[in-house]
Parts: sequence; structure tokens; C-alpha cells
Amino acid sequence: MIYRTLGRTGLKVSLLGYGTGGPSQFGARAGVDRAGRQRIIRRALDLGVNLFDSAEGYGASEEWLGDALDGVTREMYFIATKWGPPLGERAGRRADLAGLAESVERSLRRLRTDYIDVMQFHGVAEADYDAVVDRFYPTMKSLQQQGKVRFIGITFPLKSEPRHEGAVKALREGPKLWDTIMLKYGFLNQRAAKEVFPMAIEHDVGVINMAAVRLSLTRPGRTDEVVARLKSEAVIPRGELPDEKPFDWLIRGDVDSVISAGYKFGANHPAVSTVLTGTSSIDHLEANAKALEKPALPAEDQERLVRLLGDSAEPD
Ligand SMILES: NC(=O)c1ccc[n+]([C@@H]2O[C@H](COP(=O)([O-])OP(=O)(O)OC[C@H]3O[C@@H](n4cnc5c(N)ncnc54)[C@H](OP(=O)(O)O)[C@@H]3O)[C@@H](O)[C@H]2O)c1
Repeated sequence: MIYRTLGRTGLKVSLLGYGTGGPSQFGARAGVDRAGRQRIIRRALDLGVNLFDSAEGYGASEEWLGDALDGVTREMYFIATKWGPPLGERAGRRADLAGLAESVERSLRRLRTDYIDVMQFHGVAEADYDAVVDRFYPTMKSLQQQGKVRFIGITFPLKSEPRHEGAVKALREGPKLWDTIMLKYGFLNQRAAKEVFPMAIEHDVGVINMAAVRLSLTRPGRTDEVVARLKSEAVIPRGELPDEKPFDWLIRGDVDSVISAGYKFGANHPAVSTVLTGTSSIDHLEANAKALEKPALPAEDQERLVRLLGDSAEPD
């Protein structure tokens, strides 16, 4: 496993991290039971994964993660979790939402720990950014001073802001506030490389890459549909990629699947410290760890993806 420094936190995080949200929800969707979750986490640790991402909003995942990590020396891993501020859509949807301090106490209990390594504001849209900083950041700072939270991060919505408007605002206006940011960067969404990553590097803000392959690269037929649409929108010049299996040319050498190429691309930027995988399958976990043993794609393939898809901003 390769380890990279997570920006100014100084944490040496594994290039592959494990995420308990996303379509797999820590195996909940596939019916993975408690013993299965234990096996996934133990295998992840064996493979060298040391960063585990959760959220108060991911069903029972914090509790499950705390359970699966029980008995593992706390210094062997880092926990990132999140709290969703009651703003925008979330304000209307979740009347039961706990305040930040209360939510952190609950997260600590569920995760069976005294501290959270990276505590993140979850899914902050550009329109809500100022309110997060004014209304909730001071409480986060105080939790940090109390030692309950080591570092402060922010994540951004996947679907509504695939062009990372919130991240651009956060790094333009408050780069010193954020030890880490989490957003999607993959070969079907390369936008972060334009503005966000240069600012993250300049200010030493750690980047956690989420959803590098997600649905657009893992669901049969979905990749073909996305590419057909990008062709019809003239994002991709016609004739450049086949209509079916448009990325199979990436499979060569140590790249054994398009998904493997997707994780490699997601890791192959100097701003990115870790790429989360959200999987319910040990076979997939192992394949994804193998893909990141040598993250670089052949240079000409990497260049072709950037030339063809440098402007793409797929949400999923
Ligand atoms: N706004 C936010 O803060 C936010 C938003 C999204 C995600 N996140 C975090 O980022 C983490 C990663 O996001 P994600 O789970 O969407 O990302 P992802 O790892 O890009 O995609 C997960 C999907 O890919 C499939 N998959 C993974 N490896 C595979 C393989 N080798 N072969 C075939 N299918 C494979 C999984 O299915 P299987 O279960 O079958 O493997 C799952 O459906 C989340 O778990 C969450 O912790 C945060």
C-alpha cells in the first residue's frame, strides 16, 4: 500500500481508503451481515487501509464501523466522519437533526473512540457555505480545542454540484479553515484538476477523493449511455470512442478492468492523498487495492483521457 500525507494534517493515509456510504452503504444493500462487515474491515486493514470514512447520515454505519474496528489498536487507523448541517434541502427533510456538538458525542459513542481524526461538514452546497462558516464552524473549532476532533474538513454534494462550486468557494474564501476537503475526481469528472486542486496544493489542504468510479463506471450499460450523451453534447468528438465498451482500450498491462483504470486515474493526481472505495465485496476491495499498488496509467492513456474528457463533470 502506498501512503500519502493528507495535506497539513500530516496524517500518513493509505492511498486506498474505505468508505461506508455510497451505493453500497457498508454492504447493507447487498445484505452483508455483521460477520461479513468484520471480514471486510479486517481484510482492509490487512491490505494496509488505514482511513475509514463514515457519517452520522449513513444509517447504522458509524455503529457498524465502531463494532468492526473494536479491538484494533486505535493508532492503527484514522476515522473520518461527518455531520450534515440543517441547511437547504436537509433543513426541510430532517427535523430530527442533532446539533453538531450532540452529533459528535453520538459519533464518538457509536465509533467507540475518544476522538475523530477528521470531522467533516457533510455535503455543503455553495449556497450554504457562508452559513456553515458563520453558524457552525465556531462549534467545530471548540470541539477541536476539547480534543474530540483532530482536524476539520468539508465535503460537497455529489449530484447537485458536479462542477464543485462549493469547493471552489471554500478554497478561495477560507483555505485556512479546512484541513481537508472531500470531492469526486475521476476520469468522467476531471473538473477538480482545473481550479480546486491547484488551490488545495497551494494551501496544503488534504484531498480525499470520493466516488471515483461510483455508478457511471460500474453499472453495465451505464458507461455506454454516459459516453453517448457526452458525444451528443460534443464534449467528446464523434468517432473518438466506440459506442460500446468505450473504455476497454484502457485494459492492458497491469490495468485489468475499466474500474481498475478508474481508481488509478482517481489516485493519479498529486493533490489527492487517498481514494475512497465503497464496496460490499472483499474481491472488489482486493482488486481496488491491487489497482492502487501502481496508480499511474500508461502516460499516453492518461493523456488521452485528459484530452477527451478534461471538461467532463459527471455527477455519478
Ligand atoms: N458528499 C459526500 O460527502 C460523499 C458523497 C459520496 C461518497 N462519499 C464517501 O465516499 C465513499 C466512496 O464513494 P462511493 O462508495 O460512491 O464510491 P466508489 O467506490 O467510486 O463506488 C462504489 C460503487 O462501485 C462498486 N465497486 C467498487 N469496486 C468495484 C469493483 N472492483 N468491481 C465492481 N464494482 C465495484 C461498488 O459496488 P460493490 O459493493 O458491489 O463493490 C459500489 O456500487 C463513500 O462510501 C462515502 O464514504 C461522500
